Amino acid sequence: MNLVLFGPPGSGKGTQAERLRNKWKLRHISTGDLLREAVAAKSELGQRVESVLASGQLVSDDIILGLMRDAILAVKKDATLSGWLLDGFPRTVGQAKGLDALLAETGSRIDAIVVLDATRDAVIERLSGRRTCTQCKTVYHVKYNPTRVDGVCDKCGGKVVQREDDRPETIARRLDVYEAQTRPILAHYEGRVATNVIDGDLPVDDVTAKIERVLHSPGGRTAA
Ligand code: AP5
Repeated sequence: MNLVLFGPPGSGKGTQAERLRNKWKLRHISTGDLLREAVAAKSELGQRVESVLASGQLVSDDIILGLMRDAILAVKKDATLSGWLLDGFPRTVGQAKGLDALLAETGSRIDAIVVLDATRDAVIERLSGRRTCTQCKTVYHVKYNPTRVDGVCDKCGGKVVQREDDRPETIARRLDVYEAQTRPILAHYEGRVATNVIDGDLPVDDVTAKIERVLHSPGGRTAA
């Protein structure tokens, strides 16, 4: 099964992806994580994209499509996986068209799109309070899901920090970029891929339950 998790920054895509991937044997592919790993490794790619991430703008379609091509082809070769779960991609109409071409080339398809529809106030509160482990990438929230010891990951003991782009002025820019460049691509899939809108303002467990219900329902993940 191949899924796209769609929604504004802070709507809970990464949180839900972690819950869904094991159950459905999916590879969670987050373009944001891939880019942040490149920045942390100080690779050539990382140096090219670091300032773009910090500003809240989008990395170029060429770079993103190159990364995604490798990631999707790797899943195709892994017999232990049943598919992929895309998080943060596609994010522009150009990326959606590039994904169409890659799917045609590999004989694959998107089985369902799940849209986490969260309000601006909710995502601003979530992103301002988000903290992430620098080692195992576990996501916390200072109010909703705090670490037991301040700044230390419960799972691996790694350092837990605030993401560079989770500062107030950058959060606002990311939300504006989402409305201008990302939300419009839902029209690209209209009538072609089953698209399920879930209330992303609900508590984490309720959102997971709703996604599971959609994925188990006959019409929920049938591509047209
Ligand atoms: P990316 O890493 O993709 O960030 P994003 O889309 O802005 O999404 P986030 O990771 O911020 O939020 P999320 O929806 O995963 O929420 P989370 O589960 O963490 O992209 C970062 C940057 O990389 C971009 O700005 C761009 O520069 C670049 N980039 C990435 N992809 C690109 C692409 N395709 N093209 C071009 N550039 C690209 O949850 C957030 C917080 O809320 C957490 O603290 C969590 O614990 C909490 N939470 C989650 N769900 C709930 C809930 N239901 N109730 C209460 N709290 C909750």
